[in-house]
Amino acid sequence: MQIVKEKILVIGACGQIGVELTTELRRIHGANNVIASDLRDEHELLKGTGPYVSCDVMNKEMLHVLIIRHNITQVYLLAAILSATGEKNPSLAWHINMQSLLNVLEIAKEEKLTKVYWPSSIAVFGPSSPKQHTPQNTVIEPTTVYGISKFAGERWCEYYHHHFGIDVRSLRYPGLISYKSAPGGGTTDYAVEIYHEALRDKDYSCFLSEDTYLPMMYMPDAIRATIELMEAPKENITIRSSYNLSAMSFSPKEIAQAIQKHIPEFEMSYREDFRQKIADSWPQSIDDSKAQEDWHWKPRFDLNTMTEDMLRNLKPLYA
Ligand code: NAD
Ligand code: SER
Repeated sequence: MQIVKEKILVIGACGQIGVELTTELRRIHGANNVIASDLRDEHELLKGTGPYVSCDVMNKEMLHVLIIRHNITQVYLLAAILSATGEKNPSLAWHINMQSLLNVLEIAKEEKLTKVYWPSSIAVFGPSSPKQHTPQNTVIEPTTVYGISKFAGERWCEYYHHHFGIDVRSLRYPGLISYKSAPGGGTTDYAVEIYHEALRDKDYSCFLSEDTYLPMMYMPDAIRATIELMEAPKENITIRSSYNLSAMSFSPKEIAQAIQKHIPEFEMSYREDFRQKIADSWPQSIDDSKAQEDWHWKPRFDLNTMTEDMLRNLKPLYA
């Protein structure tokens, strides 16, 4: 049997997920087998850890040449405009989120790539979806341009799988919380900012109301879920649009209380802005039983263990 050595391209490698996913992929596949690429300058944490190429995913020719030149077999496409930034510039968000995916899927077809990874989001769900334990298959009527682009992207992934046999896999990430690379313009970013402000100023003004529950996940769980999905046997993958994925659900008031266990003087205030409307359109919790059944997904972090880990890792920054 011929063993195929995978050569991986991560597009959007300098973003919140990209930095940590690239690092983990390099640990698994070897530094030189994982090419990091982004529009931005190379992230500090990636410098010296493996090859970096500056590339605009919207430039299909350039991307195609890059993939051929480096004998790429798998692509992780992380470049996107997130929910809050997307509402400020809907046509740009639609254009980038759709065209980047279509460029990658077309090249995957032409070059017969072995696998493609593209993340979707809980933002595919809208106000008419069930709010609690939102099922895998339910009413999907997103009201943000970000959610519309993610839903359309899911349809394209399934289409390219069914029509052209592309092994494309996807997760509907909840809001992701991390300390290594800053978040990039989402509605769930408050749950990252709050840890920095708690350590720096001992207070935080939250742009969502105190009782806004959203599905959330700590980055180590998100990275592990991504790797586990991508390493699962092909025959286990029964969903080719995108898998619901869940870890925890909390409100701004509850995350503040979790922080106060470590920093009792921390104070939280609330000043809602345009992101409240986006959050109100999303589910409060997610049913991820298909991910559990198909590739045995199980999260490890809850609000308290995540809070301990976030504060421990961020403390030296503000000492
Ligand atoms: P991010 O904004 O932090 O990172 C995206 C990266 O893509 C940035 O480094 C940016 O410079 C790069 N990029 C943008 N346009 C590009 C282009 N034209 N060519 C090349 N690179 C470009 O986003 P993230 O949080 O890391 O999200 C990655 C993916 O995961 C996105 O598809 C996002 O929708 C999805 N997702 C993220 C979350 C979350 O909470 N972070 C939740 C659900 C889904
Ligand atoms: N965390 C993302 C956002 O808020 C959800 O996809 O945009």
